[in-house]
Amino acid sequence: MSLKYSPIVLESINHGNFPNVELYIKQQNIFTLYKPQDTKLTIHNIERLKENGTEFIYVDYANEKIVQANLEINLESILSSKVMPQSSKNLIFSQMIINCIDDVFKNPNMAVAFHKCRTILKLLSLKFEDREELTSLFSKMEEYFEKYLITHTAQVTILSMFLYEKLFNAEQNELVEIGVGAMLHDIGMLHIAGDITEKTDALTESEYHRVKFHPQHGHDIIFNVGLTARVPLDIALYHHERYDGSGYPKGLFERRIPRHAMLVSICDIYCALTMNRPYRGASTPKDALKTLNSERRLFDPEIFDGFFAIMNDAPIPEIETAKGNAKEVVFNNKNLILELTKELRASKGDRNKLLKLHSAVTDNVNKSFGEEKEALTAFRIELKNYMNSVSASDNKS
Ligand SMILES: [Fe+2]
Repeated sequence: MSLKYSPIVLESINHGNFPNVELYIKQQNIFTLYKPQDTKLTIHNIERLKENGTEFIYVDYANEKIVQANLEINLESILSSKVMPQSSKNLIFSQMIINCIDDVFKNPNMAVAFHKCRTILKLLSLKFEDREELTSLFSKMEEYFEKYLITHTAQVTILSMFLYEKLFNAEQNELVEIGVGAMLHDIGMLHIAGDITEKTDALTESEYHRVKFHPQHGHDIIFNVGLTARVPLDIALYHHERYDGSGYPKGLFERRIPRHAMLVSICDIYCALTMNRPYRGASTPKDALKTLNSERRLFDPEIFDGFFAIMNDAPIPEIETAKGNAKEVVFNNKNLILELTKELRASKGDRNKLLKLHSAVTDNVNKSFGEEKEALTAFRIELKNYMNSVSASDNKS
């Protein structure tokens, strides 16, 4: 049986407390044993590897967990290091994000793996001098971390947090929630059969129909492990909604799509385009932006313009939604209830209009979940009571 290997950022290794495991180096796609298990790793080893330009060293899968735990032990000293370049810290933090996502995808029923995503994001501090630095980090991530879905998801997480901070001047807590949502946005793909997710040619209509359930599956997986924060749930559920209403699962349009989910969806497409796939080569960042720009009708114009400006190193236009309270934009159910209430008032007790409204509300109750379902169910009860009261007064007269 051939061994599989996980990359470890060399800079993250503290020779003093590194576990006694075999270490490998990769040269021209061949893994060679660098340090046997019973030999101690020395500072001299690490310095020589660095001098040779080595950025990653490898352990076999069986030892992956022990080494990850060691990395977490060293996190505090990495964070506080004044000598370690920020680019190395970014690489180490990317590895930690990848580890967390990998863990959640392997253990989708374990709440602890999900909560760890938030704990880790709260600790990490990714910083980029400019967009170039971010792009070069993404190239390294793709080169060294082989699992496509996990690496892609980590890129979406990093890009979403980077852009969200720049576009909305968001505070750390909100950024962490965006990051958690981005880390988990495609977790629902676990419920889609492997022969579909791994397919390299075009999906059939029925396969695409099944894929369209992954946002709802993702939402349910996250909710069922007890992660009830609105932002990650919204991102999982709405990251395939499109501004013109052509997306799924609900066909939401315009500002009914939470801005968090809209931004993650743009990042999701950009990161997918810029990574190699077995069936097509990666687009350059410039070409990916061109492709996205040709489909700009699918995205909130303000958020898209902001994204486009940042990715082109142009001044960021002011975003109107940034001025408002994010929560008002996020909670679509409130807007929906407001609209339904307006329709209720406009009906002026007309029984036919009320019946139509009741059927629309029922339809929305059936399509909704969580807080939204509760709010709509409560509205339907009020509506029913109102209809009964109208019927009672009609009977009296
Ligand atoms: Fe997705």
